[in-house]
Amino acid sequence: MKIAVTGATGVLGQEAVAALVAAGHDVTGVTRRDRGIPIIEGRGARGSVADVFDADDLARTFRAHDVVINTLAHVPADMTAMRPLAWREDDKLHLEASAAIAEGARRAGVRKLIQESTVYLYPDNGAEWIGEDEPLAVRHAAFRPRVREMRAAVDFATEGRSTVILRLGQLFGRDPQTTFALRAAREGHAVLLGRPDSYITLLHDRDAGRAFVSALRAGSGFYNVGGEPVLRERWAKDLGREAKAAGPAKFIPEIAQAIVGPRLDVQRRSLRVSSVRFMSETGWRPTIGPSTPGWSRM
Ligand SMILES: NC(=O)c1ccc[n+]([C@@H]2O[C@H](COP(=O)([O-])OP(=O)(O)OC[C@H]3O[C@@H](n4cnc5c(N)ncnc54)[C@H](OP(=O)(O)O)[C@@H]3O)[C@@H](O)[C@H]2O)c1
Repeated sequence: MKIAVTGATGVLGQEAVAALVAAGHDVTGVTRRDRGIPIIEGRGARGSVADVFDADDLARTFRAHDVVINTLAHVPADMTAMRPLAWREDDKLHLEASAAIAEGARRAGVRKLIQESTVYLYPDNGAEWIGEDEPLAVRHAAFRPRVREMRAAVDFATEGRSTVILRLGQLFGRDPQTTFALRAAREGHAVLLGRPDSYITLLHDRDAGRAFVSALRAGSGFYNVGGEPVLRERWAKDLGREAKAAGPAKFIPEIAQAIVGPRLDVQRRSLRVSSVRFMSETGWRPTIGPSTPGWSRM
């Protein structure tokens, strides 16, 4: 299939491009600048420069493609994430670029859109499992861009077109956010949010890339994508071991967690998310878990 990937130079995008090329697809990676081209070519795809906020420009880029995959995000990787302004770019991408991408794809005659989203839109559900039908906890204005993005993606799925929305678990692997957490664990700084007895649903960067290939087989709908959920105290041990730290990674004290703001507050939610729907519909399986030795170098 001929597939265009936006956000192709980012963590998710690079993994998606590499996995799609390995599966034999003809892939165009979209970047806003010339210096993104060698990164995309290094993953075996063709690079194309386009403005992700301009639906006309995108329609030209997407012409003759069967599928568009939007992996765009700009998540602050360190403690600057506590400042609302640090999320300005990420908000703009979800609020405006995602809508322009859906519109550009529609105008170009693309038949399928695969949109990255996140499990962090679900409410804290304690030890209970979370399926795709769980109502989202997105009242706060901070979630508006993600809600708008979802609406644009859903609206694409008319007139015979389809949309697959992937609610991804928290990425871990070689990415900047995980690298920051590993360094903090090694240096003994508190870095983890949430309570030790709450659940986290993780997704290795490599498995996330493969999920975009599997999503080509999925029918229109929302799908959770993550590994087997683990207790955060387990994740703290795995993170500490992978960092070769003296002990488990440390939790930020409750009193400090209370003031992290709405963007990071979602990472305190207990999220025991089931990916059974995605697995049974596409055959995708997670292959790297937090207790797989060497996961930060894979
Ligand atoms: N589910 C999750 O847990 C999840 C999901 C996503 C990201 N993250 C984490 O967030 C961190 C950063 O992710 P990342 O490296 O993929 O993000 P990134 O490199 O900041 O952004 C990804 C790509 O989006 C494009 N982009 C960024 N800002 C843009 C803007 N203002 N206008 C137009 N294009 C823009 C860039 O492409 P060009 O410069 O080539 O145009 C960039 O390569 C990572 O640690 C990752 O793991 C986590």
